[in-house]
Amino acid sequence: MKLLLLLLILCPAVTAWIPRKDPTREKGCTYLQSSSLETNHLLGTDSYTPVFHFSRPEALEMMGRLDDAIMGGISTSSLAFSSDGFTRWGGVCRTDGGGFCGFRSNPFRQPLQVADADGFYLIGRLASDLEPERRVWKFSTRTKPDRGEVVYQAPFSFPKNQSAWHRVNIPFDDFCLVRGPRIVPNGPLLNTTGGIYQVGMTMSKFVFGTNTTELTDFRDGFFEVQLKEIGLYKRQQQLSKNELIIKSPQVLSESEFKKQQPLILKLMVPLFRLLFSESSRRRKSAMRHLRERRGLSRGRAIWLGYAIEPKALALSDP
Ligand SMILES: *[C@@H]1O[C@H](CO)[C@@H](O)[C@H](O)[C@H]1NC(C)=O
Ligand SMILES: *[C@@H]1O[C@H](CO)[C@@H](O)[C@H](O)[C@H]1NC(C)=O
Ligand SMILES: *[C@@H]1O[C@H](CO)[C@@H](O)[C@H](O)[C@H]1NC(C)=O
Repeated sequence: MKLLLLLLILCPAVTAWIPRKDPTREKGCTYLQSSSLETNHLLGTDSYTPVFHFSRPEALEMMGRLDDAIMGGISTSSLAFSSDGFTRWGGVCRTDGGGFCGFRSNPFRQPLQVADADGFYLIGRLASDLEPERRVWKFSTRTKPDRGEVVYQAPFSFPKNQSAWHRVNIPFDDFCLVRGPRIVPNGPLLNTTGGIYQVGMTMSKFVFGTNTTELTDFRDGFFEVQLKEIGLYKRQQQLSKNELIIKSPQVLSESEFKKQQPLILKLMVPLFRLLFSESSRRRKSAMRHLRERRGLSRGRAIWLGYAIEPKALALSDP
């Protein structure tokens, strides 16, 4: 009860501190839909250099979870190595309070020099179902060594085939500067000259655009992607024999990264953790259901929400 009061008192103060998006600006980034679904058979002689080998368990040590829990959601996903030689990225995506699941590498110790490449590629498949188009898939990268606001994203999709491995190209030209789920209108283009510091992937209910638009047909619940590789590719226009050479990145450990964070973040993060713990959000989510579906008063819902475990509530929902 005390925690709840603390939460109610501090919530506006803390959330006000989170950088807000400017709601007035409009206009799109120069993103062309057509290039987002190139697959291997269309691309004969391009040069591919793997960087993250998801066919080996070591790749997972470089990755971290990035679900909507960081901003108020209750989705969960995880990466797990399969002894069949690939990595499963899967979980349960819930739209309540969020609506995305993801993972990302820890920041690289040195920038990964990718200026010779034309884009990222991945080898993977959507293994859980045949509806990749009912989710929004986004690939993310950063050109700065922090976890600040400067994130570039590009959409991609998986072919509708659960059994074959697909190579999906994500050209640098498709990337837009984003803030949260939205494209920053007229933002700068992705400039890879100084190298990149991070890669990541997200499965989201938010359409890739300047407005926070939700996919009308979004398929929430369980999903599983299987991955073998993430790397970089170079288009070969002529019959040149220039191999694309990309060094393996070294990532910062979690503790090294924390040391680099600005003081304000160091102070805020534990408070965030306390106030926005996932279990408390699950409880709140259950409470919302109680209030909406059963027309309970707030006081009564709070009482019930604390008297009954959220799981039990979910099961007893009509
Ligand atoms: C999926 O790909 C495999 C291998 O290319 C092929 O044999 C199979 O017919 C495809 N399945 C569908 C549903 O297209
Ligand atoms: C990209 O960044 C480099 C410096 O890292 C700069 O010299 C170059 O002009 C930038 N290119 C564009 C197109 O902005
Ligand atoms: C974005 O939202 C604004 C109003 O909120 C609307 O006028 C505009 O048409 C929308 N743009 C797109 C591309 O949907």
